[in-house]
Amino acid sequence: MDIHAAIPLKNFTTFKLGGPAKAFAEVHTTDDVAQAYQYAKTNQLPFFVLGGGSNVVAHDEGYQGLIIHVRIPGFEVVADDSFSTTIKIGAGEIWDSVVQRAVQMRLQGIEAMSGIPGTTGAGPVQNVGAYGQEIADTMQSLEAYDTQTETFVTLTTEQCGFSYRNSIFRSDSAGRYIITSVNLKLSKSSPQPPFYDSLQKYLDDHKITLYTLEIIRNAVLDIRANKLPDPKLMPNAGSFFKNSIVEDWQLTDIRTQYPDIPLFEMGDGRYKVPTGWLIEQAGFKGKLLHGIRVNDKNALVLINESATGYHDLALARDEIIGGARDAFHIQIEQEPLEIS
Ligand code: EPU
Repeated sequence: MDIHAAIPLKNFTTFKLGGPAKAFAEVHTTDDVAQAYQYAKTNQLPFFVLGGGSNVVAHDEGYQGLIIHVRIPGFEVVADDSFSTTIKIGAGEIWDSVVQRAVQMRLQGIEAMSGIPGTTGAGPVQNVGAYGQEIADTMQSLEAYDTQTETFVTLTTEQCGFSYRNSIFRSDSAGRYIITSVNLKLSKSSPQPPFYDSLQKYLDDHKITLYTLEIIRNAVLDIRANKLPDPKLMPNAGSFFKNSIVEDWQLTDIRTQYPDIPLFEMGDGRYKVPTGWLIEQAGFKGKLLHGIRVNDKNALVLINESATGYHDLALARDEIIGGARDAFHIQIEQEPLEIS
């Protein structure tokens, strides 16, 4: 395994920002992972695990450590019965190709997550989700290198501590594990309504009443193509903010002022408020701030139109966060991880 020096991170992040990484390793096997970690340890460097770079932002000064770029392949059936098939997927596999293969195999459970950029190993970190599915629903376990014990371990779904867009990998145990493969248990049943609101609306609008996996996948791909900018053409990191989880009392004044506010009950007395709606109401939708465009179709997405560096993104982000705080007294949170 080669270690490269001074690799510009803007070439490895879909936001197309970021200075050089001091050291950069491409890992293709589990052995490479252990070796890369030992290199970082011996040279007293911090490390950062990078997949497709579609949910991270890098700083102008780059990264004074080792970037471990995970390219581990693999797609293997490890269990099969009349109801389900379990597949072990290498962390470096492109997520959407995995979804496509699962759909071709008539396996249900991830089709609504079609078209999400990035690699499979990044999925559990942010508990990736879309249109009513999240990876926590189908993931059975994953394998990872534990840098604390310097061994490979298997973690069950429970051990991953999944919640909305969160897991132990970006909270309590951030920096401890390097995910090498993910086991998904997919169902042999066909997709069943009710579907996520906007997906159901699309199906109704297109007079679709037959629900196959291909039809759901194509519907999601079409919705995404119309609503989300393609990172290959317009540099972005998907949703730049998480949806906001708030207590009932925080909504008292907002409800009076905005009776039409979209709210999703979490079932525990809390509500999920679409942050895209908050940003839109605060007047930022479609605006250009410091070279960063607030997407005019979904205000949750920021696009790097002409930013000169991370500092521009930080200015734009802080203006948006401040604007939402002033208007709603809600503290909105960034979703992509920072390489630092
Ligand atoms: N909304 C607005 N204005 C906006 C954007 C959204 O009013 O500018 C409202 C919509 O009207 C809707 C609600 O917000 O009532 C929710 O919008 P939508 O269902 O389109 O999804 P989202 O909250 O914008 C989340 C995920 C997406 C995922 C979609 C679909 C997060 C942070 N984002 O977005 O994930 O594709 O749901 O399930 O949870 C990603 O993480 O990168 C991502 C794209």
